Amino acid sequence: MQITSFEDYKKQYQKSVEQPELFWSEIAQHFTWHKPWEKVVEWDFKIPAVKWFIKAALNITENCIDRHLKDNANKTAFIFEPNNPNEDAQKITYAQLSEQVNKLANALKKMGIKKNDKVCIYLPMIPDAIYAMLACARIGAIHTVVFGGFSAKSLTDRINDCECKLVITSDGSYRGSKTIPMKDTVDEALQYCKSVAHVLVTKRTGQSINMLNSRDIYWDTIVPQQSNTCAPEYVDSEHPLFILYTSGSTGKPKGVVHTTGGYMVYTAYTFLNVFQFKHSNIFWCTADIGWVTGHSYVVYAPLLNAATSVVFEGTPAYPNPSRFWQIIDKHNVSHFYTAPTAIRSLMSSGLDYITPYKLNSIQVLGSVGEPINEEAWHWYNKHVGKERCPIVDTWWQTETGGIMISPIAAITPTKPGYATLPLPGIQPILVDEKGNELYGSNIEGNLCIKFPWPGMIRTTYGDHERCRTTYFATYANLYFTGDGCKRDKDNYYRITGRVDDVINVSGHRIGTAELESAINTHPSIVESAVVAFPHDIKGQGIYAYCVVLESNRQKYEQITKEILKTITKEIGPIAKPDKIQLVTNLPKTRSGKIMRRILRKIAEGEISNLGDTSTLLDPLIVNEIIAGRK
Ligand code: WTA
Repeated sequence: MQITSFEDYKKQYQKSVEQPELFWSEIAQHFTWHKPWEKVVEWDFKIPAVKWFIKAALNITENCIDRHLKDNANKTAFIFEPNNPNEDAQKITYAQLSEQVNKLANALKKMGIKKNDKVCIYLPMIPDAIYAMLACARIGAIHTVVFGGFSAKSLTDRINDCECKLVITSDGSYRGSKTIPMKDTVDEALQYCKSVAHVLVTKRTGQSINMLNSRDIYWDTIVPQQSNTCAPEYVDSEHPLFILYTSGSTGKPKGVVHTTGGYMVYTAYTFLNVFQFKHSNIFWCTADIGWVTGHSYVVYAPLLNAATSVVFEGTPAYPNPSRFWQIIDKHNVSHFYTAPTAIRSLMSSGLDYITPYKLNSIQVLGSVGEPINEEAWHWYNKHVGKERCPIVDTWWQTETGGIMISPIAAITPTKPGYATLPLPGIQPILVDEKGNELYGSNIEGNLCIKFPWPGMIRTTYGDHERCRTTYFATYANLYFTGDGCKRDKDNYYRITGRVDDVINVSGHRIGTAELESAINTHPSIVESAVVAFPHDIKGQGIYAYCVVLESNRQKYEQITKEILKTITKEIGPIAKPDKIQLVTNLPKTRSGKIMRRILRKIAEGEISNLGDTSTLLDPLIVNEIIAGRK
């Protein structure tokens, strides 16, 4: 399964295009299947309908855990590094992982959870979160993890959208020097959720919380008592493994559905190859399990490869910006996978925080979530990799399940800012606005994929039509990524960023429509338009233009504060705009369409080159907005 040279990569790539069924079936044979597949793939992007390893049956936890127990029972699966550096790190072996997951799976059954039920996981980055995901998969329940930084309102929306029966949470969580009341947020969210029968609560901070008698159950009163064996529920290859909500250019976040067999094969394969993983490596992906990177490269892919990986509860700057480097030296991390935003923020803290650390265990560095600018790439290369470690700039999405375009560590020659070449099995193409394929090199267009891969999205939960219109209807017979992309003279790909109304803030996707509807709930706001602008640390910042009721125009301080509060309540603090400008109107065409292009230019400070504004309903509004620029 592992690519051994650049020549081998090219050979494998060609095989994957010419004989995709043979290519993927050979890879799939490395896993444990309860029943083999009858056919490798069936697909039709028009519907869309995609199936992999058809009619096969399996349980992914058998592949993540059980099959390693023979040779690797005492190997460390996870090294848990707590938020507080004075608290001891904890090593969890595969045998211990098995015990915890089986006990929890039995407890879930006791609480009435069955195959196909949805379970919401709202937890900090602690081992219990991983046990929770795997325990669901063990019994065929479908997990939906909600990032701990989302508000009660966001939690309510997600729980209701997929009708979760159970929520797994903690009393509180630690984040840097702060303690966050997780259970209180769940209580608030559940006032509006009818489907939830129980809340399972693990104790992390020990803070006082309310427990509702018949609904809420403490983890330590039900889990430890269970048997440590729970027979795996065998599911169809296309049985949903999880639903993960992500923002798009319209409406509310949508539940991206990933299924079991294809996702397993794809994430495991990409991990093994992109990182050139070896058995003795210590892998550390810093993503939270609330995002897809956490699902695929903290939980599933490392376990599928019997890896040892670090799970970190805290933040890069607590207690100071040396924390990442200190953890790398402490646990001899060999593979470090993080986001450009973290690199830029640590870069801005100065070299004094990194030079005292040896970092000589590092072999491979990875980047994910947003384009990495050259300055950050060079800093990462020089100060973390000491100019001896390959950097894999991995491009992929929640919808793709795993890495799609990326160097293969130490095999693909890298180029700063380039995700380089597609992995075997991935057939990217660039198209113009009309969907015509752009051939050759030195071109730029919209990035699409023309052939299915095992880890791809199957549907958006409860609304298949939305999946079709978002990803498969823009261009006929293509999966549209929403990203712009260049292909250079070496046929290397460089992702240039979203071409839709999605903002990528610190590697997290935030939809402008979602933000605007949150802002518009404020009683003094008539309407709003949100755009992105370049931000030194976050990659993109959020700029909100808000039309305020005339009677309230003088109250800038008060209204901006209230808007920030509203967004924190409606979405969560990660979606707070960096700049808010109160305006009397927005630039609109005569048909009422907001000219975002102009707003974007103003936010970027490019006011000398706004293009034609004569078609606007009220061209003078542009001058007002420029004059009041933040
Ligand atoms: C962006 C995160 C440039 C891109 C795994 C994509 C990137 C969106 C890269 C998906 C990269 C991710 N270079 N841009 N290496 N990786 N992106 O769903 O715009 O949170 O569409 O998945 O992040 O974000 P998501």
